Amino acid sequence: MDVIDGAMLDCEDMQNKLEMGELIFFKRCPFPLPTSEDLEFLLSQKVYQAKSVSYFPDSGFVNGYRGQTMEDEVRIRNILSQFSSRATSWLAETLPSYYSQMRFGPLRFRIEEEKGRKNVEPQYSGSVLHVDMNGDAPTHGESFLRIFVNINPVKPRYWVTSDSLGQLLDKWGDDVRVPNERMQGFFDDVRLIMNRLFRRSTLADSAYHRIMSRIHYYGKTNDYLQNRAPQRSWVFPPGSAWLVFSDITSHAVKEGQFAIDQTYFVPSTAFKNPERSTKSLIKRFWARRVSNEIS
Ligand code: SIN
Ligand code: FE
Repeated sequence: MDVIDGAMLDCEDMQNKLEMGELIFFKRCPFPLPTSEDLEFLLSQKVYQAKSVSYFPDSGFVNGYRGQTMEDEVRIRNILSQFSSRATSWLAETLPSYYSQMRFGPLRFRIEEEKGRKNVEPQYSGSVLHVDMNGDAPTHGESFLRIFVNINPVKPRYWVTSDSLGQLLDKWGDDVRVPNERMQGFFDDVRLIMNRLFRRSTLADSAYHRIMSRIHYYGKTNDYLQNRAPQRSWVFPPGSAWLVFSDITSHAVKEGQFAIDQTYFVPSTAFKNPERSTKSLIKRFWARRVSNEIS
């Protein structure tokens, strides 16, 4: 299948495609990449705590990194912060309606080779098809717009994409529901209150988050999504970029090392067609059970 270069698309085309669950591929990253010295520095980094280093644009925090020296720590923050600013300026110009309502999510610098990673359970692996959920904090119904760049100078990154969230929900139907869904909500609320009382952070503080995490894990071991759904393979060459609503488009990474992605949380009101937003899809699907739990 021919791949259209995202550089040929206007804003409306892009929004239509993204909202329908299509990935947009750019032969060349549409904003400037780090300098060759900075790239060399990034490529010399080793996995430390996690498979990726995170940078949070709102606070300027870096997580999951330990440099050899203080200068390294400052340097990585500066490089990632500059990357994030450039990606965001591009978003502002290219997709102003998403930009004007978005909230920053994390930037991730993915250091580890994805092929043959050992000791990873399917539920925690990005190499099996899935729709994303946010593990860091509830998103209260915003969709995840993510721009990825393959910064590896020699090796492509390989992905597979498949059905959109809407298609999956149609296919799965009631199978993805759990018994006593409402009671679960009640227990989650009790847990949330207890956690707040004892000042412990909690992830499950919205019905939406609970449902998205169930869908995420359900899909990772679901026979239809893993073995029977139509698949499309992608080869992302060095220096290319791709943009996707990663909670609307199911995807898996198969191979590749060294990529950076910036996430933006986009509310349904910023969608060209809000009916296609994650929140609307979930709300419609759960209308019979939890419409009063998702606001
Ligand atoms: C993801 O599954 O969200 C990450 C994929 C990647 O690392 O390329
Ligand atoms: Fe993912």
